[in-house]
Amino acid sequence: MTVSRRDFVKTSVLGAVAAGVGTRAQAEDAKPSAGPQEHVSQENQSQTGSHKRPIIICANNGYAYLDDAFAFLKSGGDTLDAALKVVKGPEDDPNDDTVGLGGIPNEEGVVELDACCMHGPTRCAGSVGGVRNIKNVSLVSKAVMEHTGHVMLVGEGAERFAVAVGFPRENLLTEHSRKVWLLWKEFHSNEDWWGPGLADPHWQAPDSGNGKPQAEVWQERIQNLRTRAADLGIEPELQMDAVRKVLFPPTGTIHCSALNDKGEISGCTTTSGLSFKLPGRVGDSPIIGAGCYTDQDVGSAGATGSGEENIKVAGAHTIVENMRHGMSPQEAGMDALKRIVRNYNGDMNKLRFLDMTYYVLRKDGAYAGVSLWEGYSKERPHKIAVHDGSRRAEVTVSLFKGYSQDFPPAPNVPEEVKKEFMK
Ligand code: GLY
Repeated sequence: MTVSRRDFVKTSVLGAVAAGVGTRAQAEDAKPSAGPQEHVSQENQSQTGSHKRPIIICANNGYAYLDDAFAFLKSGGDTLDAALKVVKGPEDDPNDDTVGLGGIPNEEGVVELDACCMHGPTRCAGSVGGVRNIKNVSLVSKAVMEHTGHVMLVGEGAERFAVAVGFPRENLLTEHSRKVWLLWKEFHSNEDWWGPGLADPHWQAPDSGNGKPQAEVWQERIQNLRTRAADLGIEPELQMDAVRKVLFPPTGTIHCSALNDKGEISGCTTTSGLSFKLPGRVGDSPIIGAGCYTDQDVGSAGATGSGEENIKVAGAHTIVENMRHGMSPQEAGMDALKRIVRNYNGDMNKLRFLDMTYYVLRKDGAYAGVSLWEGYSKERPHKIAVHDGSRRAEVTVSLFKGYSQDFPPAPNVPEEVKKEFMK
């Protein structure tokens, strides 16, 4: 019997899921995976009790901010304040286009931010969704927790609340994000009234390749986008990055959990959400139990990735409950990933357009970073950043071998073109 590559993928992944085993499914091809071994040793370390406290874990875009936060935590600082110190870094950074200032905007060119936090020791929580014009929404979520009798505020009300308690209103759309958004509008302009229009000498009917191979059509399309990016004033070194964001819109976010030497634990998550989303779309990040969940008795978990999928499995809450019932951080995270797989009946034709990373910290200092896929490419694997006295970034353990494709998918991008992009 001949088994096609796709059949093999389907069979092996579903087999692993059906069996409920914590092993990584062999997808894409039959090569044995060399990757998991390093993670297995991380898990073993956790299981044998050599884990440390205090400790902070976060998505890798928080790496640069871990030293300060760890020093603060070690000197007796509150666990939630330590976690907020980490995520405030990317929120303030105009060059991190996944959160706060400079976040890639919605389809109307407006930055809308989501965030939440949970403070383990007091068992309090706060959250904001769809907030415009306020950069540090993670701190606004803490203000909701401390200064209201509510847990969640959204939209205009959340913005007005933030201003009332002292947060400055500011324009969150940087010049670079604005130009990336314009380029995205122009990329879709064959289907709308944004330029280039029919009168433009470079205009081509949608999908007209004049019989050329797809790879060639795409190289031309990318070159045209690059020329457009130059016309819009995007600096040469940022042009390919802008084109990549247009073709494969990113879902960036940062989660952070912090645990002190007394065993107090807190977590927070903040994001600008899905690039070019519909105005008003709220993802998983501000949903207590999806983008973040902390239980002082058990541990803390948070997520980055496909928000809609994570909401449906209440990912962070599922993971914390799994740990409560005895699973290790890695097993608990893998189980949540398998629930996402189950929601699509293991259909790899759909699952390849999703991705999810969970950051898991147990109350005793054991931790894990787990992902649905290995990352964006071989060169850009998913990582969890950790500080427990030494700061490091570790590749996450993935359920599937291979790399996800972003959603919505740019149609028919040949693999060789995509690979070139994702380096
Ligand atoms: N996980 C971020 C979002 O989907 O908004």
